[in-house]
Amino acid sequence: MSDDKFVFRSIGVIHSPHKEISKIPIQPVFCKGIEGTVVLDVEYADGLNDLQGFSHIYLFYYFHRSRKIRLRLKPYLSDQEHGIFATRAPHRPNKLGMSLVRLVRIKDNILHVKDMDILDGTPLLDIKPYIQRFDSKKKTRSGWQDTVSDDAAAVRGLRHFKR
Ligand SMILES: C[S@@+](CC[C@H](N)C(=O)[O-])C[C@H]1O[C@@H](n2cnc3c(N)ncnc32)[C@H](O)[C@@H]1O
Repeated sequence: MSDDKFVFRSIGVIHSPHKEISKIPIQPVFCKGIEGTVVLDVEYADGLNDLQGFSHIYLFYYFHRSRKIRLRLKPYLSDQEHGIFATRAPHRPNKLGMSLVRLVRIKDNILHVKDMDILDGTPLLDIKPYIQRFDSKKKTRSGWQDTVSDDAAAVRGLRHFKR
């Protein structure tokens, strides 16, 4: 059994208009144009050098308001149970969140972004640039997600449905 332990320190705070977990659309693709800011702790601001040239960035963060760990659950887009690692749900053992957002501008230690799907006040763990050469794949399979129509995803992704 792996029992390595690591201590992560947040390196900043994510701010967004989302104040209620239950009302946040489930991915940036369903949050088109929603603005937010990432306030990086000043001591790390030098690390933002050259990031402004990237149109999209990954934000890694801690789902600090996720209470339960669930190894199987019904994610928002499905009425079937799936393993947590086959979903992006917050109830993960290490509560790691990841959002691909549009980078609008950087001013000092503050990043202005769009397509924000993260709760206001969420602790930031890391920032990485989206790099098309590395990250874009032409042929993919998306498992159970391939059985969900775009129309159903749009409705459920916005959380405009009741199970
Ligand atoms: C399905 S998760 C996906 C988030 C991210 N894009 C990912 O793929 O890791 C999105 C949901 O997480 C919840 N959420 C957002 N920020 C959170 C936080 N700080 N703590 C707990 N839950 C959060 C909201 O309910 C939101 O609808």
